[in-house]
Amino acid sequence: MLIPEEELLKKIQEMGRQISEDYAGKELLIVCVLRGGVFFACELAKHITVPVRMDFMCVSSYEDGTESLGRVKILKDLDENLEGRHVLIAEDIVDSGNTLNKLMKVLEVRRPASLKLCTMLDKPERRTADIDVDYTCFEIPDEFVVGYGLDYAQKYRNLPYIGVLDLDEDN
Ligand code: IMP
Ligand code: MG
Repeated sequence: MLIPEEELLKKIQEMGRQISEDYAGKELLIVCVLRGGVFFACELAKHITVPVRMDFMCVSSYEDGTESLGRVKILKDLDENLEGRHVLIAEDIVDSGNTLNKLMKVLEVRRPASLKLCTMLDKPERRTADIDVDYTCFEIPDEFVVGYGLDYAQKYRNLPYIGVLDLDEDN
């Protein structure tokens, strides 16, 4: 176990309070990045006191490197129009930052009033893309983690805490 459930919930609640202050008087559109961001985005939304809309998006990066920067494969697009909206992307974890770097570029084109990024976990040691994270719950070391939305081969998302994967135990 790396982060117990109580610590996670406490930090997410604090983040919700901070976001409510920062967006006072505004309406917020939370863009949850599927699938890993779903537990975090839903818990966070519960602690935000300004009016909130939620929308969901599923993306994957092109792996082969032949695609130009700023492109990301959209597996499920948003239903909401972003124009003039205050948009906050909610991610499970920022690792290299490549996916989010591209996703931000895609969403900026849709002319939101503002576009910010919040993440439950950040592995800053692994960063290769230039990306500004506006809100982070926890910085973690370079380990493969699962739980609270994060998977290994689609398993362990339902763990209520963040754990480090033990490959010997996974079978
Ligand atoms: P990035 O483009 O390298 O930042 O990729 C981030 C994505 O990789 C995250 O949204 C996760 O889906 C996945 N990922 C990165 N690190 C981990 C981890 O430790 N556990 C589970 N998924 C991870
Ligand atoms: Mg993800």
